[in-house]
Amino acid sequence: MAQQEEVFKKIVSHCKEYGFVFPSSDIYDGLGAVYDYGQNGVELKNNIKQYWWQSMVLLHENIVGIDAAIFMHPTTWKASGHVDAFNDPLIDNRDSKKRYRADVLIEDQMAKYEDKIQKEIDKARKKFGDAFDEAQFRATNARVLENQQKYDALHHRFQEVMNAEGGIDLEGMKQIILDEEIVCPISGTRNWTDVRQFNLMFSTEMGAAAEGTSKIYLRPETAQGIFVNYLNVQKTGRMKLPFGIAQIGKAFRNEIVARQFIFRMREFEQMEMQFFIQPGTELDWFAKWKETRMKWHQNLGFGSENYRFHDHDKLAHYANAATDIEFHMPFGFKEVEGIHSRTNFDLSQHAKYSGKKIEYFDPERNESYTPYVIETSIGVDRMFLSIMCHSYEEEQLADGQTRTVLHLPAALAPVKLAVFPLTKKDGMPEKAQEIINDLRFHFNCKYEEKDQIGKRYRRMDAIGCPFCVTVDQQTLQDNTVTLRDRDTMEQRRVAISELRGIIEDKVSITSLLKNLL
Ligand code: GAP
Repeated sequence: MAQQEEVFKKIVSHCKEYGFVFPSSDIYDGLGAVYDYGQNGVELKNNIKQYWWQSMVLLHENIVGIDAAIFMHPTTWKASGHVDAFNDPLIDNRDSKKRYRADVLIEDQMAKYEDKIQKEIDKARKKFGDAFDEAQFRATNARVLENQQKYDALHHRFQEVMNAEGGIDLEGMKQIILDEEIVCPISGTRNWTDVRQFNLMFSTEMGAAAEGTSKIYLRPETAQGIFVNYLNVQKTGRMKLPFGIAQIGKAFRNEIVARQFIFRMREFEQMEMQFFIQPGTELDWFAKWKETRMKWHQNLGFGSENYRFHDHDKLAHYANAATDIEFHMPFGFKEVEGIHSRTNFDLSQHAKYSGKKIEYFDPERNESYTPYVIETSIGVDRMFLSIMCHSYEEEQLADGQTRTVLHLPAALAPVKLAVFPLTKKDGMPEKAQEIINDLRFHFNCKYEEKDQIGKRYRRMDAIGCPFCVTVDQQTLQDNTVTLRDRDTMEQRRVAISELRGIIEDKVSITSLLKNLL
């Protein structure tokens, strides 16, 4: 784990050093859990968004997109339940004066038991090699069984307090923290306050004081912008059930325990799709969207073992199925996307609070009803983080050197092709620019003439550029260049006229989308 934490720290500094992610307002020492995307980060982020958007809107005839405002009528949040129930349970340590999310402290404690189990397994696997049988080891090893029992007991208690009648059992939560002897990581003491609820929405005032102001919220999820536009889109687009509305946009949450870099932020971006369906068909659609979304993730080629579903044991009162897609981050399996069967809760609530009839007339059934909804909701920033974590490698080379390389999926890489003149003379820079001028309409190209070729390769490896081309003396004679592959580092001589054909197919989002059909 310590080694993984080390790697994670390196990824965070790499993100800053190579223009992917900066702390917000860096010159003022940053702003907690708020980040800016740099020149390479924004390209990667845009490519992720494009991959998602096109997989939804281009590949599904019955899914359309919208872009709703961040500010919404305040009643929206009353109807959705966010004003009353969008809370986190908080606890303070009296000695360090640090504030924590009580549920996160307990989850971390569960993760400690899981880590202990994993360590035993890793040790035994090393010892027994191919003969190792993990299932048998889990069922028989005393230390594994002891930690598994502690984990199960804690998990059970945690579920009970989180899903208590009438909301989270705050006293029960504090009791778990005391019983598990959880200490504050800063002070090392168990001097805890009571647990209390804290609403996560940011609010502000709209309007000038003279006219009278009203309290409005920065949206904590993009989904409500879709629900309140359901009728607009259904009617103007003459949409027939089943159909979906997709949206990408910013969301804001006053997260108290903001940790792990861009994993939990106060300002972040979501890609959400609400799929409106006939009541009674929701579990079939839920299963279908689970499969579709998992395929989308695994299509990036990071290995199916790095993903898992985490089906929710206990559900919100309005949901009848929910799962998370978790990705294996350096700090464990973590949620990247949620898929929820939300029944007709949101549309019914908006109908009740707005006084408008929000229904669908089904011509086949000759009746009107409130559609049910399957929601897929993924965080752009978490997706970005999972991609960075998986792509980062400090590779040992045959000559004893190390190179830092980002094995980004070529279609998501910020820069697709770097073009280098071998030297700054004999017309090589001009030839290199000529190549870029021709190819820049098809994909993102970068010109680099500073330093030796080896150093230029390293810089491009570090930003995950899949292809580099070098213009040399021979180029001036026969219009061929050396094309170097980021992952294999192999170089081959190709004609300039062939470059577009070789590269375009590999770096286009279409190349990813084709596998999804
Ligand atoms: N409309 C449903 C909804 O918002 P959620 O599980 O609260 O559900 C969905 O959020 C996704 O948004 C998460 O799976 C995660 O990827 C992302 N997300 C949520 N809170 C976040 C935060 N504070 N920072 C970064 N991403 C976040």
